[in-house]
Amino acid sequence: MILKIDVEQGASSPFFVAAGFGGSERGTDMQKKVTVVGAGNVGAACAQYLAEGNLSDVVLIDVIEGLPQGKALDLTQAGPIRGYDAKVTGSNDYAAAAGSSLVIITAGIARKPGMSREDLLNTNIQIMDAVMAGIKAHCPNAMLLVVSNPLDVMTYRAWKKSGLPPHMVFGQAGVLDSTRFRTFVAMELGCAMTETQAMVLGGHGDSMVPLPRYTTVSGIPITELLSKERIEAIAQRTRDGGAEIVRLLKSGSAYYAPAASTVAMADAILNDRKTILAASAYLSGQYGLKDVYIGVPVTLGAGGVEKIHELKLDKPELEALQKSASVYKEIIASLS
Ligand code: LAC
Repeated sequence: MILKIDVEQGASSPFFVAAGFGGSERGTDMQKKVTVVGAGNVGAACAQYLAEGNLSDVVLIDVIEGLPQGKALDLTQAGPIRGYDAKVTGSNDYAAAAGSSLVIITAGIARKPGMSREDLLNTNIQIMDAVMAGIKAHCPNAMLLVVSNPLDVMTYRAWKKSGLPPHMVFGQAGVLDSTRFRTFVAMELGCAMTETQAMVLGGHGDSMVPLPRYTTVSGIPITELLSKERIEAIAQRTRDGGAEIVRLLKSGSAYYAPAASTVAMADAILNDRKTILAASAYLSGQYGLKDVYIGVPVTLGAGGVEKIHELKLDKPELEALQKSASVYKEIIASLS
């Protein structure tokens, strides 16, 4: 009702602005809304970083009664101290997602020590199907940013169920794998983390492809700063990055870096930054691969995946990427 009056009178009508009418309670109808599905550790940390970055209002959705509501209220109460006004709400009902421009999907079980991400497949695919039914019913046109594991398969599944064009559905993994690679490079060199850049392609699993040639410190490729042996050791620690934390935590998996990576992607979309980063994207012939979601460099902006960049990979790099994609193609084929 208020929205209708708003449209008729013009959202900039002085009365409505002064009275605080509009899309949000702060008198501005510009605030974006992001839904985070799954109020576990990753989902809650995403909500925290979104709010702290004043990037959007946040709706947390989870099947467990009270969990999204409780975490949302707790996060809201941190606002006066942490300096944000974002509306953070929780619900067990997908109707609360209506009007979101972006939906971040973190729902699913996490790994226990000794498990691979692929071991989560059967449980998480069922959860994904239920999530997609809810999202399709209430915000069918929102972009989808998938975080649930096994990441590349779950992103493919979300896309299939969504009916959306592939550029609107993508997965977070390359940013996380790249930030881990960056961290280990900085630790090895004793240099500033912020001066490192890295590119990790392929699937979010043991077959991921860290690319030392495209990994730099202040523009200098690490191939000029570190020995081959040290680079391979760091690349391997990156591949094992998730498992190392699962082993330490003993129950559950990493969440600070995964959420920070996810919110970096949300920021690129919400603020149309045109950031070039590695993301799980749908390939239709690039890198000799078709009908698969896999980590590649993309430009991410308000239009979602606006461009897929085809790097001139050398033979071993391309073979590693194609081998990684074949792992996920096989899993996808086994599902259908
Ligand atoms: C990781 C999990 C979340 O890499 O995929 O930590």
